[in-house]
Amino acid sequence: MKTSFIGKYRHQFVRLTSTNDWMMNRLSEEDLLEGTIVISNHQTKGRGQRGSSWVSKANESLTFSILLKPTFVKTTEIFGISICVALGIFDCLSSFQSGFKIKWPNDIYFQDKKIGGVLIENVLGKSKCHQSIIGIGLNVNQLHFNHLPNAISLKQIIKEDISIDSLLDRLCKTIEFRYLQLQDFQFTLLKNKYLENLYLFNKKHCYKIFGKLIYGEIVDVMLSGRLQLKLEDGRLCDFDIKEVSF
Ligand code: BTN
Repeated sequence: MKTSFIGKYRHQFVRLTSTNDWMMNRLSEEDLLEGTIVISNHQTKGRGQRGSSWVSKANESLTFSILLKPTFVKTTEIFGISICVALGIFDCLSSFQSGFKIKWPNDIYFQDKKIGGVLIENVLGKSKCHQSIIGIGLNVNQLHFNHLPNAISLKQIIKEDISIDSLLDRLCKTIEFRYLQLQDFQFTLLKNKYLENLYLFNKKHCYKIFGKLIYGEIVDVMLSGRLQLKLEDGRLCDFDIKEVSF
């Protein structure tokens, strides 16, 4: 089994449009080893999920991408990658303080505020996943979030300045640990841990489903990554990210 491969090869930049874009462009020119990471002190066109943008302050946040080659993951079970990345980040942050949660599919929350997000871009084959670019954005030392009332940083939580380099090293280790568990067929353990730490799991909450406000509670997440809700009338329904919002 491979160990300490995430972060072994690093490309560091002062400024990039997006670390995910850099990784994707570079891969179109040459092959890179699994575990290669690219970090940028400042992103000018950071991308988020569902076509949103990811805005972060230069030198005060962590923005990086990891290249994984999870060829052992079936395309139908692709959510396993999301689970282990979210858990790896969760483990790392929880070593500072308790109270972090994973918000489906892979946002990282502290109480009701977002501290980080993950953008996963996969290259899928017929039945297996060839390549996965894992883009991670974490609010580390920022104290002000103009126009983002829902954001929080690690410094605001633990009341201390954090070294971005050492946080990156810790994250590489905790994500690798969970990724190796996935490779070692420990999917059930990973999924249970994910659900255990999932924001609003088994709690009644109002969701916007196909534009309508409906009460329900999260009861499961499918292998495909679809969110399963038990609706007020007792029906179990599952949704993808475009169909439901919190
Ligand atoms: C989200 O919460 O919507 C996902 C945000 C992901 C942001 C990271 S920052 C590093 C990487 N490069 C990008 O352009 N996006 C991801």
